[in-house]
Amino acid sequence: MNHAIRFHRTGGPEVLQWEAVALPAPAAGEVRVRHHAVGLNYIDTYHRSGLYPLALPSGLGLEAAGVIEAVGEGVAEFAPGDRVAYTSGPLGAYAEARNIAAAQLVRLPGGISFEQGAAMMLQGITAQYLLRSTYPVQSGDTVLIHAAAGGVGSIMVQWAKLLGATVIGTVGNDDKAAQARALGCDHVIVYTRERFPARVREITGGEGVAVVYDSVGRDTFIDSLSCLRRRGMMVSFGNATGAVAPFDCALLAKAGSVYVTRPGLFDYIASRAELLMRAGELFEVVESGKVKIAINQRYALKDAAQAHRDLEARRTTGSTVLLP
Ligand SMILES: NC(=O)c1ccc[n+]([C@@H]2O[C@H](COP(=O)([O-])OP(=O)(O)OC[C@H]3O[C@@H](n4cnc5c(N)ncnc54)[C@H](OP(=O)(O)O)[C@@H]3O)[C@@H](O)[C@H]2O)c1
Repeated sequence: MNHAIRFHRTGGPEVLQWEAVALPAPAAGEVRVRHHAVGLNYIDTYHRSGLYPLALPSGLGLEAAGVIEAVGEGVAEFAPGDRVAYTSGPLGAYAEARNIAAAQLVRLPGGISFEQGAAMMLQGITAQYLLRSTYPVQSGDTVLIHAAAGGVGSIMVQWAKLLGATVIGTVGNDDKAAQARALGCDHVIVYTRERFPARVREITGGEGVAVVYDSVGRDTFIDSLSCLRRRGMMVSFGNATGAVAPFDCALLAKAGSVYVTRPGLFDYIASRAELLMRAGELFEVVESGKVKIAINQRYALKDAAQAHRDLEARRTTGSTVLLP
């Protein structure tokens, strides 16, 4: 019997249940993937809690890596035995095996393990599009990355350095500060005890940064605006502290005619060509060793609730995988 994590009502981690689920043969255009590793992402907690509403009961998870076991009618690009990874809906990656549209898959290069694949598809492609498309970082830019020792943050710091940026990272405590420095941050601010806008002004000689990548959301949004240089770019891409409150547009003029965007991964990988391009760049920087995927936590898949508790309590760093 195939098992998966499912939930019948939104709430805390306790709503997650380990259930036996039927797994039919893959439909036309689908393949069945036997998961070797599943990625844990902050968005999973928004689905579980109800911050991002969905129809219940539901599976959970948007990212995994494994081996194709069976292919449905019309699937020509993949065959049983292929090593693959994906980051896509519908929710249901927290499963021992599942069926998924072949068009969502990417082939895992030989140099990338299942755990790396599961840990980096969502967080790594996010880092890729934020740094290369949303605001294309130029050599010499100074950038501010919040939660710099987290999953997306750890990848972004290394990649921003590769692009030639001066990187300021914020973190919640001193252990994370040491990790952020080891990842390449030029300056680290412990924003739980230091006022980060004042420190950013000091570090940049009053000018401010070209871009803020803010995944923390409600608690940092307004302060992040005040860190920007004239006509800088505020990239608000997450809600770890809750959704950003409505704000007065005039604030953008006051902050120096700055720009704000609120991007989501799935608008940057909507076509197969774009998915393959972004995954290809990610695989290249990881295979070359220039960007390392720090898998700092591993849990049994059936213990996903504990993984959620640790993620939400800020006890994790880098990426986390769930093992079926
Ligand atoms: N828009 C997109 O396309 C997209 C894609 C992927 C991820 N995201 C977003 O990016 C963010 C990071 O995702 P991730 O999976 O890599 O998670 P993560 O960064 O590993 O974990 C979240 C981190 O946020 C920080 N944080 C600050 N205040 C917090 C609070 N009150 N509660 C919990 N965490 C708090 C913590 O780091 P410190 O202790 O150092 O503060 C924590 O470790 C999430 O907001 C996620 O939704 C967005």
